[in-house]
Amino acid sequence: MDVTALEAKGFVSVKYPRTLYHRVQQTMASWEYFCELPKEEKVKLAGGDRLHDFGYMIRKDKGPRADRKEQLHVSERQLAELHKKASTISDRRAVSFINDVGVLIRESQEIVQEFASDVASMYQLDGFERDVMSSKERWTFRYLHYFGGDMLSHAHADRGGFTLHLYESDKGGEYLSFDGVWRSWPINKRNTIILPGMHMQHRSNGKIKALWHRVRANPQTIQKGRFAMVAFIDFLWTHKYDDSKRRLQDFEEGFNYDMPFTEFQKLFTPA
Ligand SMILES: [Fe+2]
Repeated sequence: MDVTALEAKGFVSVKYPRTLYHRVQQTMASWEYFCELPKEEKVKLAGGDRLHDFGYMIRKDKGPRADRKEQLHVSERQLAELHKKASTISDRRAVSFINDVGVLIRESQEIVQEFASDVASMYQLDGFERDVMSSKERWTFRYLHYFGGDMLSHAHADRGGFTLHLYESDKGGEYLSFDGVWRSWPINKRNTIILPGMHMQHRSNGKIKALWHRVRANPQTIQKGRFAMVAFIDFLWTHKYDDSKRRLQDFEEGFNYDMPFTEFQKLFTPA
């Protein structure tokens, strides 16, 4: 993988393995059908609480920066529990959906490992590949359905390690390049992208920046909404972003691009 693009462009383009691409398509079709089930059925896949939730959740927050969406979070460690919950849904396809997501999680490991290994050698990050792979039970696979409206996802940087984009039903995804211009990201059948988050910036001593991104609406998505899927890859690390100091959403777009590492470090606390 060309990880030098992290410093040049802010993200890495990844050749999409065919098997993985087809598995993602298969689970997206299941997710779209799942979204059409009555709410009473969908909430049977909810788990955890507001702070540590997993499974199905619906967000209809109000306010200027609120995203309106429903989503499903799946990690390997919750697969068995989600499987049990899915078996209480009257439509039997819910169980095969969760089974297929389990297969997809395993099939994603190779691409994640390759990225981790290449970043570790390029930036001489000792133990990075191990720290990524030993957290694989906690990687979060997010299935998204935005309901529509003018802005689908407001500008933000991801707080975790890095984010592997796997699917989007429409265009509209943009990243804030280092020269301050919003540009469309290149995702298609053959190529997808990996975006670094805040923890990656800390882990690389500020060499790799957390990339700001957003999703804009178009006439189609205003009407029918948008489906997408990403995997949030977290890794074991000594520090974590500290929300009690300053909430990430309160910063200016791209604030971290030119911030000296000595300042950036202050946003973190020991994990
Ligand atoms: Fe994001």
